[in-house]
Amino acid sequence: MQSGHPPVPPVNIPASIDEVSRLLAGQSYVADRPLAVSIFLAITLSKPLFLEGEAGVGKTEVGKVLAQGLGRRLIRLQCYEGLDVNHAVYEWNYARQILHIRLAEARGEVPAAGAAEREIFGPEFLIKRPLLQALEASDGAPPVLLIDEIDRADEEFEAFLLEILSDYAVTVPEVGTFRAAQPPIVVLTSNRTREVHDALKRRCLYHWIDYPTVEREAQITQTRVPGIGAVLAGQIAAFVASLRADALYKHPGIAETLDWASALTALGQTELDEDVVADTLGALLKYQEDVAKVSRRDLAERVAQARAAVAR
Ligand SMILES: Nc1ncnc2c1ncn2[C@@H]1O[C@H](COP(=O)(O)OP(=O)(O)O)[C@@H](O)[C@H]1O
Ligand SMILES: [Mg+2]
Repeated sequence: MQSGHPPVPPVNIPASIDEVSRLLAGQSYVADRPLAVSIFLAITLSKPLFLEGEAGVGKTEVGKVLAQGLGRRLIRLQCYEGLDVNHAVYEWNYARQILHIRLAEARGEVPAAGAAEREIFGPEFLIKRPLLQALEASDGAPPVLLIDEIDRADEEFEAFLLEILSDYAVTVPEVGTFRAAQPPIVVLTSNRTREVHDALKRRCLYHWIDYPTVEREAQITQTRVPGIGAVLAGQIAAFVASLRADALYKHPGIAETLDWASALTALGQTELDEDVVADTLGALLKYQEDVAKVSRRDLAERVAQARAAVAR
C-alpha cells in the first residue's frame, strides 16, 4: 500500500454460495440455489447480473436485498422509453450556470478569456445522474447499481450502457473521466417486452427467474405476510399456480400473491373458500376479462383442488 493514502476498508463480499443464500434469507428473500449461484458468480467475477423474467417474479427485489444485505448504497436507474444520457449519466445545471453568470455581471466582474467557461463547466455545476453516481469514487464499498427494466429503454441507450459496463468509466469532456475505483455490483432487469441485444447480454451473467414452485411461493408468502398460517399460504400458492397454468391476459406475479394473501389475512380467513375467493379476485387479477373468465369457469373446482393440495 502506498504511504499517505488512507487504508482501503475491507469490502463485504459473500465468500460462498451458502453465504449468498443466507444473506438473501436474512432479507426475507426466498431464493432457489441456481439464483444464489448466479449472484455469487456475478459478485465474485465482477460481472453485471442480467435478470430476466415475467413481471413480479422478484427481479427488482434482488437488487434491493443485495444492497441491504451487503450494507451498500442502492443506486437505481428506472428505464423508460426516451431515457437519455442527460437523465442517466449527467447534465449541466443550466439554471445555476446562468445565475452564476448574472451574479458575476452584477458584481461588475470581467473574467479572463476562457475562465468563465472553465468555471461554469466545473464539477460544481454538474448534476450527477445514477450511472455517474455509481462510478464516482467513494471511500466506502462500491454501491449496488440497479438498472431496472432495460427492455423499456431504446436500443441506442443499450449500446451506450454497453460501453459504460465494459470499462466502468464515463468521460465528461469538460471535466474529465470518472472511473470506478472498484466496479459497483450491477443488476440489470428485463421483463422481456422486447429482446435485449446479444452484445449487452454477453457482458453479463444471465439468469432467468421463473415463477416459483408451489412450495416456494407458499414459503415466500409465509416469509412476507406476517401471521399467515401454513395451510392458507399453501392453498393460496396452489390456487395461484392453477391460474398461471391458464391462458390469461396477465398472470399474477408474486406481488399479487402477497397482496391477496394480505387481503385474505385481513379478512380473517384461515383457508380458501369459494365465496371469499370470488370477492377478492381483484387483488390477484387486474384485468376484468381475466376476472370474468376465472369467476365464470370452475371456480369451485379450483378452490377445492387448492384445498386438497395442502395437507392439514
Ligand atoms: N423470492 C422472493 N422472496 C420474497 N419476496 C419476493 C420474492 N420474489 C418476489 N418477492 C416480492 O414480490 C414482489 C414483486 O417483486 P419484484 O422484484 O418487484 O418483481 P419484478 O421486478 O420481477 O417485477 C415484491 O414485493 C417482492 O418483495
Ligand atoms: Mg421490477
